[in-house]
Amino acid sequence: MGTQEFIPRSLQNSLEKASFTWQTPSNIALVKYWGKTDPQLPKNASISFALSQSHTITTIDFKKVDKVETPTFELFFEGKKKDDFKPKIAKFFERILEYCPYLLNYEMVINSENSFPHSSGIASSASGMSAIAMCLMNLENELSKSTLSDEFLNKKASFLARLGSGSASRSIEGPLVVWGLHEEIEGSSDLYGVKFPFQVASIFENYQDTILLVDKGEKQVSSTVGHNLMHNHPFAEQRFQQANDNLSKITRCLKEGNIDEFISLVESEALSLHAMMLTSNPYFILMKPNTLEIINAIWNYREETGSKVCFTLDAGANVHMLYPENEKESVLQFAENQLSKYCQKNQYICDSVGLGAKKL
Ligand code: DP6
Repeated sequence: MGTQEFIPRSLQNSLEKASFTWQTPSNIALVKYWGKTDPQLPKNASISFALSQSHTITTIDFKKVDKVETPTFELFFEGKKKDDFKPKIAKFFERILEYCPYLLNYEMVINSENSFPHSSGIASSASGMSAIAMCLMNLENELSKSTLSDEFLNKKASFLARLGSGSASRSIEGPLVVWGLHEEIEGSSDLYGVKFPFQVASIFENYQDTILLVDKGEKQVSSTVGHNLMHNHPFAEQRFQQANDNLSKITRCLKEGNIDEFISLVESEALSLHAMMLTSNPYFILMKPNTLEIINAIWNYREETGSKVCFTLDAGANVHMLYPENEKESVLQFAENQLSKYCQKNQYICDSVGLGAKKL
């Protein structure tokens, strides 16, 4: 099925007013999405863990009005009016209008807050866009007299979220979500994320993510600029192939519990992502000296203790340290004693894998 299934056929109910609140997670990719074509279609498949502590909570109040020409909304972030975030959301609403025509019948007030510190360098677009998408799907379901299945609601929410931010398509469900067509993942699609369809070995259950905040500033390279760097990139095709191959390999590791290969795939993915930026035109170095200090410290710690901790990176300097739950105590001590000194204001976030969107 293509995009047609997401155009609502008949909305029978009429609602004067409605209000929905959703909490949706941030996610951390194991195999990275980097490179896309219009409209927000990924050049390779990616897979991520949904997080449990790092999330966005969004309430949308809908009030019925005479039909307007463009979606009309006010936006508040952490209690304050946030007009500088509006253009991004306005563009998102324009993009999804075809699939959510009822937006023209409502005035919206959006109230949003993040659990992680503002400008912590943690991308908020994934959790932010997915939370809006869930609120819209909640409205659509009410307008459809609650006839939409949970499966469809999640699928369309992921489809809508993707049109706001690619990685947001992976922030509806959990614990593991694949986005992008991949021959070994049944049901996978470039249009939306799907739950990883296989049983995962117990070592990967409740996996931990300690996020070391090396640089809390604004992103040096916006994701739009970043993804564009993959057009005409000399290594683009090899990179897309590598990512798809890595997804096959990591699928096997997750099923079989092969943690050593998992570690090398996850770390290689992070470094490959950064290698794309190092070798693009223009080029960027997004790691900071302390990013490298942390990576080296993790490698030493693994060597000395036999720990199964590993790192991954997004398009920035912060380091996500991933490890099994049974190492929680020791790795947190390691973070506090040896890594916090490399973090801005010694700050890090203790997170773990979560189950996706929650209605509040
Ligand atoms: C490095 O999803 O932020 O985090 O689709 O332009 O909004 P847009 O990009 P975005 O890109 C995220 C890239 C990444 C890797 C990943 O999460 O897969």
